[in-house]
Amino acid sequence: MDHPKTQHMQYVGLVTQEDEMPSSHTLNAAPNPEPSPPAPSSTEPSHAAPSPIRTAAPTAGPGATAGLDAAFWDRLAEGYAAQPVANPDAFERKIAITRALLRPDAVALDVGCGTGSLALRLVDACAEVHGVDLSAEMIRIARAKATAAGADRAHFHVGPFGVSPDERLEALGEGSVDLLCAYSILHLVPDRAAALAHAWRLLKPGGALVSSTVCLGGPARVLYAPLLGLMRTFGKAPHVQLFTPAQLQAELVDAGFVDVTAHEVGAKSSIAFLVARKPEEGRS
Ligand SMILES: C[S@@+](CC[C@H](N)C(=O)[O-])C[C@H]1O[C@@H](n2cnc3c(N)ncnc32)[C@H](O)[C@@H]1O
Repeated sequence: MDHPKTQHMQYVGLVTQEDEMPSSHTLNAAPNPEPSPPAPSSTEPSHAAPSPIRTAAPTAGPGATAGLDAAFWDRLAEGYAAQPVANPDAFERKIAITRALLRPDAVALDVGCGTGSLALRLVDACAEVHGVDLSAEMIRIARAKATAAGADRAHFHVGPFGVSPDERLEALGEGSVDLLCAYSILHLVPDRAAALAHAWRLLKPGGALVSSTVCLGGPARVLYAPLLGLMRTFGKAPHVQLFTPAQLQAELVDAGFVDVTAHEVGAKSSIAFLVARKPEEGRS
């Protein structure tokens, strides 16, 4: 089997965004932390969480992990954390746009937070930030980075995002979030409509969603569908959904979001960076 970092390059270089920060870049933590046993799936945040946000334990049973790739991401986590930012300028523009949506009393949630790079760039601009990720390994690294940075208002949770609470994992407090970030995740969730509906429910009226999503639908599908299928067969890629930026924008509108805006941040042309809002109460 390839070293996780090799797998990381094979998949991440192909279809994900170019923006993950190495842990040393912003936080002065070790770029390659010593390997340690994977953290057990946990429903507890790393620090006491004062907000109504909570995660529920996974439900066992057939299909409980259908379409989810926790083991794939666990294998990649160390390499992902160590990977340098390929396009720091684009990343900084995204961060600036995202931070500008925060206020000191805001609650932010980063879904598919990976090793916490984005969440930890937001924590000083809001009251608290939560990260949720399918991968216990990603969350273990995120928590270590938060501890190293003294970011005690950053809370990280293990679990899939966008799955109906009836089916299993997640029960985040409705209407509890001012800003929901979905960087490089919406092409990975098995049911994007459910994920967007869940995001909408979590947001406060007037709250914002920021999505940075690789969109490989349209003509590019001809190339990427077979390639990703082949890579997935050999464990080199997760489930990836292929769609266009226009499709994603339309889905956001269908989910009830308004003011859906695409920002040019100088990222790869396949990456759609979108900001949308949940309407204020009384506005549809
Ligand atoms: C491409 S990485 C992006 C990480 C980070 N958001 C970033 O921009 O660098 C995708 C992350 O999403 C997580 N993930 C994949 N499917 C998920 C799901 N259904 N629910 C929650 N997290 C998921 C993976 O574990 C991984 O950490």
